[in-house]
Amino acid sequence: MTDAYAVFGNPIAHSKSPLIHAAFARQTGQDILYSALLAPLDNFNQAISTFIAEGGRGANVTVPFKEQAFALATRHSARAQAAGAVNTLQFEADGVLGDNTDGAGLVRDLVANLGVSLAGKRILLMGAGGAARGVILPLLEQLPMSVFIVNRTADKAIRLAQVFADHKNLSAGGYADVSGAFDLVINATAASLAGDLPPLPADVFAADAWAYDMMYGKDTPFLAFARLHGARPADGLGMLVEQAAEAFWVWRGVRPDTAPVIQMLRCA
Ligand code: ATR
Repeated sequence: MTDAYAVFGNPIAHSKSPLIHAAFARQTGQDILYSALLAPLDNFNQAISTFIAEGGRGANVTVPFKEQAFALATRHSARAQAAGAVNTLQFEADGVLGDNTDGAGLVRDLVANLGVSLAGKRILLMGAGGAARGVILPLLEQLPMSVFIVNRTADKAIRLAQVFADHKNLSAGGYADVSGAFDLVINATAASLAGDLPPLPADVFAADAWAYDMMYGKDTPFLAFARLHGARPADGLGMLVEQAAEAFWVWRGVRPDTAPVIQMLRCA
């Protein structure tokens, strides 16, 4: 019997996840079917219950349902707990496991694909919404020298840092508080979606710094700014594929080779 998986979101038609998981399944010989399903904005839980009743084994969850998926799960991985959101569900006989593979996907893209070592580095994380929160613990686990969370609304960044108060190398503030140079600047804001550039100082990048925009599919003002100031740019396509590979690993216990899949999407 083919095992059924799906990604739930609203909207969902644009999702590349079915393409990615079909490629993983072909490559690893796993017998799965993965679809994109539109969940109604006011009835996510029902959409998941129906999928479970029809035999679904697991699901990915995207905007705007990651917090609802967290609430629906009956147990959580440590990284989902830290993220306060779930992008991967596994349906089990006695409940629903909620996991979050976004941060692991980002770290794997940085470390394994781009060759960026994070240990001892100064990281600037822009944004204090769900996208930023989801990657904080996995970044801290790489033992950077420091992580500064910067947000337009400074209070929100400060409150977010308090969630991880055990980590003394984590601090937060507004853009006016950004000082010194960083080895890695990550854009986890929604600014790129609107074609905006967060108000970064021109000297934010250290020598050989990386600029990572979680958005993919088009050049962003942030990556253009990074290039202009000598930083190496990376978009979020690798993170997209790596978070999917991590979910595939959670479900199937098999780790797909992501390089050909990233390559395929770049060429598409
Ligand atoms: P997500 O779940 O994708 O993180 P979100 O919770 O709406 O979405 O958060 C969006 C983030 O992008 C916030 O940190 C927001 O800053 P504010 O909290 O100050 O609103 C940030 N953001 C959105 N547009 C921005 C812009 N033009 N410049 C800088 N930050 C921006």
